[in-house]
Amino acid sequence: MKMTLSREARFWDRMANRYAKSPIADPVAYEEKLRLTQERLSPEMRVLEVGCGTGGTALRQAPFVTDVHAIDVSPRMIAIANAKKAEAGIGNVRFDVDDLHGFTPDGVRYDAVLAMSILHLVSDRDVALAKIRSLLQPGDLFVSSTVCMGDDLKIFKWIAPIGKALRLFPTVRVFTSDALAHSITAAGFDIRHRWKPGPRTATFLVATAR
Ligand SMILES: C[S@@+](CC[C@H](N)C(=O)[O-])C[C@H]1O[C@@H](n2cnc3c(N)ncnc32)[C@H](O)[C@@H]1O
Repeated sequence: MKMTLSREARFWDRMANRYAKSPIADPVAYEEKLRLTQERLSPEMRVLEVGCGTGGTALRQAPFVTDVHAIDVSPRMIAIANAKKAEAGIGNVRFDVDDLHGFTPDGVRYDAVLAMSILHLVSDRDVALAKIRSLLQPGDLFVSSTVCMGDDLKIFKWIAPIGKALRLFPTVRVFTSDALAHSITAAGFDIRHRWKPGPRTATFLVATAR
């Protein structure tokens, strides 16, 4: 059956090969985010990663938990993630093409959701956060890293719609770290850790469901 891809999925499909080859922008900050997440993971946990891209984070966190289910709207991203999984020989990660908004857990009870570099790419972060919260129980973990251009790159608010119209960018929303933290709290989470490594870097937030 041929699947009709959304505009966003088609954009990320076009980007996938280049995305897979591009180096991590700030490897030191990335490692610290992995470490801060691992501090809160434990071997019995089942983790869902939304917008997993080419799967690097899911594969890095898998040894610390029972399993990771990682989803992404882009079939090409997922194909690359599966190739990386085979190469790494890691068995407890499952990659699936799926959209966060329509995702159903299929009987699995997740203990944690990871959302790395995705909340600024959905059209309504509050809807996305409500969906994520609906997948978790009180005390469960939510970890996100989000580009908050409202902090120090406000001009992007004007550039983003033009870039989208020209098919150069996907949907990109511009908001501040404070606005994001407010949305996460309003969605039913308590923020436990907030870290922005420097100017023009993504805001890392660790939260637990209320
Ligand atoms: C900037 S990339 C980040 C990939 C990865 N999390 C990382 O940190 O490298 C954003 C990813 O989110 C995916 N994505 C965007 N909207 C999505 C949605 N509604 N549901 C699932 N994945 C989505 C895109 O296909 C893309 O692979």
